[in-house]
Amino acid sequence: MQVIKYSFQQHGDTRGQLVSLEEFNDIPFRIKRVYYVYDTLPNVRRGFHAHKSLEQIMICIHGKCKVLLDNGLEKKIVYLEKPYEGLYISNNIWREMYDFSEDAVLLVLASDLYHEEDYIRDYDEFLKFIASKN
Ligand code: TYD
Repeated sequence: MQVIKYSFQQHGDTRGQLVSLEEFNDIPFRIKRVYYVYDTLPNVRRGFHAHKSLEQIMICIHGKCKVLLDNGLEKKIVYLEKPYEGLYISNNIWREMYDFSEDAVLLVLASDLYHEEDYIRDYDEFLKFIASKN
């Protein structure tokens, strides 16, 4: 499984840093939704789902966390620790986010609005869904 991690351009100067993200230029899809996760408690693990069609970019804009990616055949662990790093997650990938630092803010850019019917929240169902695609 190929992990696609973007290193966004930082517009730094003596005042500090700035990152700008434009749909189709920096982000490979139209950004239809933005959400963020914060105040996560210790030992919390979130996610536990895949999407049938949604694409996302995850950016830990403050603090750090880990993301487990699973395509049904292979698993990869990605560290998100920099506010200028973005992890691309395509559809059909099971994800779990964990080891959040106390100050972590995980920003997510998504290619569509929230549709519960796009979620696969059962791991066995995910494996069956992947198998039916191949
Ligand atoms: P959930 O899917 O459990 O989050 P995670 O993937 O991080 O484990 O979402 C938590 C709650 O927020 C759940 O009730 C659904 C709701 N929600 C929205 O209303 N809109 C959204 O865009 C998202 C991502 C979640």
